[in-house]
Amino acid sequence: MGLPRSSCLERRRKPKLPMPTAQELDALRREVHAIQWWHSIDLGNGIVTPGPDPTAARLREIQLPEDLSGLTVLDIGAWDGFFSFEAERRGAARVLATDSFCWGQGGWGSKAGFELARRALRSRVEDLTIDPLELSPERVGTFDVVLFLGVLYHMRHPLLALERVASVTRELLVVETVVDCLGYRRPAMAFYPGSELSNDETSWCGPNPAAVTTMLRTAGLPRVDVVAGARPLSYRVAKACYYRLKFGYPFVATMRTDRMVFHATR
Ligand SMILES: C[S@@+](CC[C@H](N)C(=O)[O-])C[C@H]1O[C@@H](n2cnc3c(N)ncnc32)[C@H](O)[C@@H]1O
Repeated sequence: MGLPRSSCLERRRKPKLPMPTAQELDALRREVHAIQWWHSIDLGNGIVTPGPDPTAARLREIQLPEDLSGLTVLDIGAWDGFFSFEAERRGAARVLATDSFCWGQGGWGSKAGFELARRALRSRVEDLTIDPLELSPERVGTFDVVLFLGVLYHMRHPLLALERVASVTRELLVVETVVDCLGYRRPAMAFYPGSELSNDETSWCGPNPAAVTTMLRTAGLPRVDVVAGARPLSYRVAKACYYRLKFGYPFVATMRTDRMVFHATR
């Protein structure tokens, strides 16, 4: 893979900005607290957005290249934009954050967090409201690195979505997703017509690792690496017991699910 690996700390160093006043920081804190966040984003000066997502741990798991100097990055389903801002911090020349559901089509959140974080971080990340199924080289161009994190299992048409996403990927596609049907070797996918996955009616599919891999290949990305695999059965059994007792989730179905990260390249 042709992505640069060397450190880009020099490029990341930003010119020193004047310290915000105490009143400005208080105003920023008030704005932060008025928003329902998903991501935990460090806005500086001790202000961290209070999202429930374990964002820092997920960043480690997705194994985003340390140096993105000069590369273009597309973050699909960006929501509050943590991964877009991180790509910019790692030196990306251009970052486009896209979303539709949470940015105004009746999703769980809003675009307010993204806009506030972009302003607070003085970021140049671009934004576009577009559904993943509308992505094409004609609409958005192509990108060196594409992030498709936490979105695949929300897709009613997962293979079609991966085809659209692959069509705008020049080099590396990072897919982070719920996986289900663990234990089946052949490509298989759970279908969630209701709220079977974590009581969430917006989740539609849980592919197993073989299904994710073969869908990515079918979509035109032949080289697929698992960079974060499913946790061991003992861990998943303990997790399924906990969720059974705490939320009443079905034991066997929960034990067969986890999250995984795939890197796909041409
Ligand atoms: C769990 S969040 C993941 C956000 C971010 N990518 C991350 O990994 O933290 C799911 C994202 O998928 C988007 N999404 C959910 N359902 C969708 C749908 N049916 N169509 C398009 N986008 C959807 C949401 O707007 C949201 O940004």
